[in-house]
Amino acid sequence: MTTHAIAVDRLVKEYPRKGEAPFRAVDGISFTVETGTIFGLLGPNGAGKSTTIKVLTTLIPPTAGSARVNGFDVATQGAGVRNSICVVIQENAVDTYLTVRNNFLTFGRFHGLTRKETELRSARVIELFGLTEALHQRAMDLSGGMKRRLQVAKMFFIDKPVVFLDEATTGMDTFNKRATVAAIKEEAQRGRTIVLTTHMLDEAEELCDTIAIINHGTIAARGTTDDVKRMGLELFYLTLKAKEISQELKEAAAALQPVKMEVKKNDIELTVRDQHAALALLTRLQAEGRLVGFEMSSATLEDVFVSLLDKPGGARP
Ligand SMILES: Nc1ncnc2c1ncn2[C@@H]1O[C@H](COP(=O)(O)OP(=O)(O)OP(=O)(O)O)[C@@H](O)[C@H]1O
Ligand SMILES: [Mg+2]
Repeated sequence: MTTHAIAVDRLVKEYPRKGEAPFRAVDGISFTVETGTIFGLLGPNGAGKSTTIKVLTTLIPPTAGSARVNGFDVATQGAGVRNSICVVIQENAVDTYLTVRNNFLTFGRFHGLTRKETELRSARVIELFGLTEALHQRAMDLSGGMKRRLQVAKMFFIDKPVVFLDEATTGMDTFNKRATVAAIKEEAQRGRTIVLTTHMLDEAEELCDTIAIINHGTIAARGTTDDVKRMGLELFYLTLKAKEISQELKEAAAALQPVKMEVKKNDIELTVRDQHAALALLTRLQAEGRLVGFEMSSATLEDVFVSLLDKPGGARP
């Protein structure tokens, strides 16, 4: 047994293709997730996130490498893995003809809970996920975001140590998302291990203890969100404020070779790597009286993400 809830070692997944070499969707990734923590798998469309989740949840077999979930090998101990997990797949799946309440009742029965246990546990998650008012509505009549919320709530209602959430908050509005994020955090604090994928980098930054950024089936960066933000990239964020944005100012900013640059009416927002050059420029512009102000901060996860995917060799086609 291991202290890691999940241990993935040089995992490969290939999909067969007719008359062509197989397509390698996951190309030798390795990572571990400690028990009771939240791990985020981030990356652009087609990066291999869902494929990884599918292998870890035994929906599809790995081509090579190994993965253990709750100590069980996904290739040889599938039943052990399935007994340890709950999964929210990317596609929506709730029993649409049932009311919210009956969704919980049938799901509990399916997982061998008594009616009493079901009532007790569902009361907690219904409250936690703010579904009380929708209790007697049929799932099919719920909005897309609420349906998704019901689906996520159902997973937390079953007491399994590891929970997989593939794009769990997709389609949710900000309010819904906030509530779901809070509920996921609370569940991790109760000792569950959570593996999630998301496109929302701010959400990952808020939720995840550790993350891996995956691109074309390989890991571009991994570690704590702070580690990844530091990642030797030393990106930092600069806003130059001026009465008027002149061509000259734009050129001076562009000379810093920013990873990202946005020119607005009275300011220029930049994400740069070279702090010294940026500070030198700031000092000069200040001395020449060409700025009304400036702001500096360290880069967000999104800035790091964009810069990693833009790197030669790691770039999207
Ligand atoms: N069953 C399949 N057969 C063949 N190719 C597949 C299959 N499933 C996925 N792929 C391909 O594998 C790659 C990875 O897909 P995957 O669904 O894992 O990406 P993802 O990171 O989850 O993307 P998204 O952010 O869009 O959900 C894609 O190029 C996809 O087209
Ligand atoms: Mg996916």
